[in-house]
Amino acid sequence: MELYDDNPTIDFLKQDKKIDEDKQGNVFFKEELVDTSNQKKFYIESYGCAMNFSDSEIVASILLESGFHPTKNMEESDLILINTCSIREKAEATVRKRLRIFDKAKRNKPGTLVGVLGCMAERLKTKLLEQEKLVDLVVGPDAYRDLPKLISTAEEGDKGVNVFLSREETYADISPIRLQSNGVSAFISIMRGCDNMCSFCVVPFTRGRERSRDAFSIIAEANDLFNQGFREVTLLGQNVDSYKWENPETKETVNFAHLLEMTAKVNPLLRIRFSTSHPKDITDEVIHTMNKHHNICKYIHLPVQSGNSRILKLMNRTYDREWYMERVNSIYKIMPDCAISADIITGFCSETEEEHQETLSIIEFAKYTMSYMFFYSERPGTLAAKKYPDDIPLEVKKRRLSEVIDVQTRISLESNKKDIGKTFEVLIEGVSKRSDLDFKGRNSQNKMIIFPVVEGYQPGDYINVKVNEVSSATLKGIAIA
Ligand code: 5AD
Ligand code: SF4
Repeated sequence: MELYDDNPTIDFLKQDKKIDEDKQGNVFFKEELVDTSNQKKFYIESYGCAMNFSDSEIVASILLESGFHPTKNMEESDLILINTCSIREKAEATVRKRLRIFDKAKRNKPGTLVGVLGCMAERLKTKLLEQEKLVDLVVGPDAYRDLPKLISTAEEGDKGVNVFLSREETYADISPIRLQSNGVSAFISIMRGCDNMCSFCVVPFTRGRERSRDAFSIIAEANDLFNQGFREVTLLGQNVDSYKWENPETKETVNFAHLLEMTAKVNPLLRIRFSTSHPKDITDEVIHTMNKHHNICKYIHLPVQSGNSRILKLMNRTYDREWYMERVNSIYKIMPDCAISADIITGFCSETEEEHQETLSIIEFAKYTMSYMFFYSERPGTLAAKKYPDDIPLEVKKRRLSEVIDVQTRISLESNKKDIGKTFEVLIEGVSKRSDLDFKGRNSQNKMIIFPVVEGYQPGDYINVKVNEVSSATLKGIAIA
């Protein structure tokens, strides 16, 4: 599951540039935290999936507790952290580029520590220290509680390394410091790790075994966020449908459908989203629960990866084309107004042109409102790297990707055109990037809608907007009273 952008690009050529422009996660923090003249300061950037952004908020909380204060200015920081992604080779290359920049900051301010957190830290472990001489700290996703100790070790001139993966850690008791927040939407991590072993994916190796967080701590966090003025929470996990937590007192098991319902009941004005669903695990119970509660958004991110059953088998996705189509039919049958999006990989090992055509046709079948689309990038240590040759030439992978993007763009535009003349309830997130005269917000289906600012309304308010113009990526409209 990944967070790519507010308004995801479907132009893969722009993708890396966008990461550089948009994903430099300079921390945002509330003014009252900023009287920091004499205190040590940390600066943190996050790359990759929503889970990484959420983890950085846990890291910020741990560091604040131990006397560090956040800064948006790398030059003045004593500790530069980068929370990294290993999912594709490009993601790691971006991180290495950023490390070159940190090197300069470190030379200008001797004593500054540089730490690599997250998936790349876990994947490369101490190898990272050999490859990147400037790195002082290497901390895996389950070791953030150890950061204060590791920082002390590094301050004394040794390297601070902890890449142990845990079977229990969920950081349930830590209140995340909301970074880069718009004050309206927040992530809540509900589980960690992944047990699925998709053959292309490095995540099970970098984030370890799947474990679910205490349901009551999730509800308490949602309540807190609502009381602070937040109006939307996204429940995060690599595979939310396999969420399972046993109440130690009653021995009752809370599954994902129950958790959704409990979160929906926090307040009818709190919107609930979630990501990522796995096609093999999403149940009708979850779909019915979504349908029952107005404040559970009618949007499911349901990565298909490929539309061909043989490739899905090689990918170890444990469902086939027919199973996936049945799940899509079930969603539309129970919730005709639900939007579905996907992740798609082109040019996986041995994929033929005919098999690629089946990916194009499943986009048409499922009518995705949008997709995150990638060409296959072999990751060391994964099942696919061990078992299957990466035999599709790069030009072919890229050509197939651009065909996927073309079909998706057409389907997105068709879907958006159907919205012209409809009125949607929109949660205002802020002013639009392009103009202060426009608000931006999303409808339940997760489509971004831009509309002229209305006096008396502010971010966090709900407003009805009638759509009058669309592109493949955005809707435009006018608020109606
Ligand atoms: N190559 C290309 N894309 C990948 N993804 C995961 N691993 C790879 C890889 N090796 C994509 C999948 C996944 C999303 C988060 O990233 O589509 O759902
Ligand atoms: Fe990777 Fe598959 Fe787990 Fe998603 S479900 S994190 S693609 S192994």
